[in-house]
Amino acid sequence: MPGLAGVAEVLIPRDLLRARVSELALEVVSALDGARDPVLIGVLKGSTLFLADLVRAMRCEIAIDFMSISSYQTSMQPGVVKILKDLDEDISGRDVVLVEDIVDTGLTLTYLRRALGQRRPRSLRVVTLLDKSVRRIVPVQLEHSGFDIGDAFVVGYGMDFQGRYRNVPDLLAVRDLARLANDPLVLVESLFVTRSHVSPER
Ligand code: IMP
Ligand code: MG
Repeated sequence: MPGLAGVAEVLIPRDLLRARVSELALEVVSALDGARDPVLIGVLKGSTLFLADLVRAMRCEIAIDFMSISSYQTSMQPGVVKILKDLDEDISGRDVVLVEDIVDTGLTLTYLRRALGQRRPRSLRVVTLLDKSVRRIVPVQLEHSGFDIGDAFVVGYGMDFQGRYRNVPDLLAVRDLARLANDPLVLVESLFVTRSHVSPER
């Protein structure tokens, strides 16, 4: 696709993201069913844009907290997860909504569900914007999911490649990962410099 240097294309445009996120917000509020003192937990950094849109569409009182984890997945140690920034909130006895950007292999979420479950929340549910169910290595419980995207590698709407492109308003599928890896800035000009159909100015 010429607009994005043949490297990526728009997979889910911002309007569709917004519409689906509003539906997810209704689903989550309905599942919380008037819970007292619920808390929403964002996993940094990928879920931040999704979380910001989700909470604004949730018509209920809810606290927000974040945690940061690192997961390095080598063939020797698949799915080793470490907490880099823990929660500020005490979640015991509370209804918890964990907000994820993507569930891919399921290893990260498996770890997080266990780690949060050990803190004895009253309930724990997961909402993910994206699901790559075909890539699952471990089955994992997922209460709310926005889109199943097959095995596409995506950037934008919070998702990154080497720390870049999180602020792109649309979700892009990378079609030429080798070129992006070779030149991580290859999308910058078409996204941010020239006027294109994915201009952030719409
Ligand atoms: P997993 O389910 O443990 O394999 O890992 C999920 C995490 O990997 C997500 O929360 C993302 O941070 C990251 N990830 C997986 N697929 C993608 C992608 O296509 N683009 C950007 N990050 C991804
Ligand atoms: Mg993540």
